[in-house]
Amino acid sequence: MLELINVSVNVKEGYIKKKKTIINDISFVLKDEKALGIIGKSGSGKSTIANAILGLIKNSSGDIIIDGKMHNQFSRMKRAKMVQLVTQNPDSSFDSDTTVLQSLVEVMKIHKLLTSQVSVEDLLSPLLKDVGLESINLNKRPNCFSGGELQRLSIVRALLVKPHIIILDEVESMLDTITRIQLFDTINKLRKKYSLSYIYITHDIRVLPKLVDNILILNSGRQVDYGAVEILLTSENQYIKELRDNIIMEVKNNEQII
Ligand SMILES: Nc1ncnc2c1ncn2[C@@H]1O[C@H](COP(=O)(O)OP(=O)(O)O)[C@@H](O)[C@H]1O
Ligand SMILES: [Mg+2]
Repeated sequence: MLELINVSVNVKEGYIKKKKTIINDISFVLKDEKALGIIGKSGSGKSTIANAILGLIKNSSGDIIIDGKMHNQFSRMKRAKMVQLVTQNPDSSFDSDTTVLQSLVEVMKIHKLLTSQVSVEDLLSPLLKDVGLESINLNKRPNCFSGGELQRLSIVRALLVKPHIIILDEVESMLDTITRIQLFDTINKLRKKYSLSYIYITHDIRVLPKLVDNILILNSGRQVDYGAVEILLTSENQYIKELRDNIIMEVKNNEQII
């Protein structure tokens, strides 16, 4: 279980080092095997929440608690085993100078996953099958794969360490509609198979009801709404209203075409 209690992150900006609060008083609970959606305009602090959970940016106040312990009590390695991040840009998440296989083996070595009984193939085969890439040749550099394939391979890399929480930060934003739908399908299957809980950061309110249980709506670093996914239908937040209006417009336009 992951819990954020009144978490804020301040940074110092500019040459006069003026304090700027980029997330302010964020609280939520992510229970085991549940999924939370985080939605908000660009710059509203979504990735900062992810970075704070991962310990990549320090929270200035509040508590981040993973499985009952303050998150900074865990070593970096242990935390990486518990929480994994899959980011928006699959191109930059694999080293462009080596093959994808080498990058994946590197993760296995860092986390000491290879033993005399467990081979690279033992670790990779089931995961590649899970994400629908069982017959793929991994002996190629990242630029030889499609965006959808790389995004799935990022998920494979995240799952190698058997995390119980995965944070998916706008993973669909570089993908076309069909590839997106397939990716969401895969994510849902993985959630059940590996008893994962996840945080899904997105701009797409259409996919959230299929993927998450709860929603956190952000505006300028503050949480404006938090609750069951249905709040997407009722939230008075201007950004969510605009997203709802866009969907209504799309539906109307499609009706005209038909
Ligand atoms: N390390 C940092 N130092 C200074 N400002 C930052 C830092 N990280 C993020 N920000 C700022 O904080 C705000 C929120 O950023 P971010 O969490 O990336 O938003 P989102 O993911 O919702 O687009 C932005 O204005 C961004 O420029
Ligand atoms: Mg972001």
